[in-house]
Amino acid sequence: MSWGLDNRLSRIFQPSNGRTLMLAVDHGYFQGPTSGLEVPKDAITPLLPYADTLMVTRGVLRRCVDPNSKIPVVLRVSGGTSILKELSNEGLTTSIEDAIRLNVSGVAISIFVGSEYERQTLLNLSKLVDTCERYGIPVLAVTAVGRDMNRDARYLSLCCRIATEIGAHIVKTYYCENFDKIVKSSPVPIVIAGGKKIPEKAALDLAYNALRDGALGVDMGRNIFQSKYPVAMIRSVRAIVHENATSKEAFVLFNKLRRKEKDS
Ligand code: R5P
Repeated sequence: MSWGLDNRLSRIFQPSNGRTLMLAVDHGYFQGPTSGLEVPKDAITPLLPYADTLMVTRGVLRRCVDPNSKIPVVLRVSGGTSILKELSNEGLTTSIEDAIRLNVSGVAISIFVGSEYERQTLLNLSKLVDTCERYGIPVLAVTAVGRDMNRDARYLSLCCRIATEIGAHIVKTYYCENFDKIVKSSPVPIVIAGGKKIPEKAALDLAYNALRDGALGVDMGRNIFQSKYPVAMIRSVRAIVHENATSKEAFVLFNKLRRKEKDS
């Protein structure tokens, strides 16, 4: 570890409790103008005050996020494919120089274990870790498993452990039964994705259970920006991550805040 790397990690994970609420808004890199993010600036701006970190691509960062913002950025640097093609066929889309120029706190890349281009994506990760180690920039590996594989502890732990072994500094995965086994077998900070939009109470349960079972944070997108009440939702997730709220308490808060959001 180096001072620069530790310093950047401390911008992502709050030193007070070692946790993070990362707001994921990078979906457009392969989904285009996905629901809830059609106008990125309008979606992102009201949520920023409640996020610890923003996961975003360089294009949206440059055009839609105020450079005076103090938000630490985890920059999505893999891509090259779209929902119309084989998703695992990714390469690196952003140079290390541009990531440094954008003053990022970390970079993110997907790996697709069990998919057609598994090897390519794992070697992408390995190359990125080598490059980023030179500059003290943490690498977040986003895990995906093959289309015909369940997102269960068997496959997700395979994916997370491989990412850990290759040298990812943070691993992002999905919550599942026996999640604690994934955490124990992958000795790096684990954060969870929210996945497809589900009812707010279910998403709050997911966040609560993941943290209870050892995740150090959430990197949530659709369950925040696709909610009818995104500000109420991110503030409720925040209560779980940083105020030790139960999901039940967070849902009470959500209902209170959504009334205000509706009126405003
Ligand atoms: C992949 O599309 C991206 O890395 C997303 O940022 C990630 O899946 C997290 O977003 P969500 O909570 O919507 O699953």
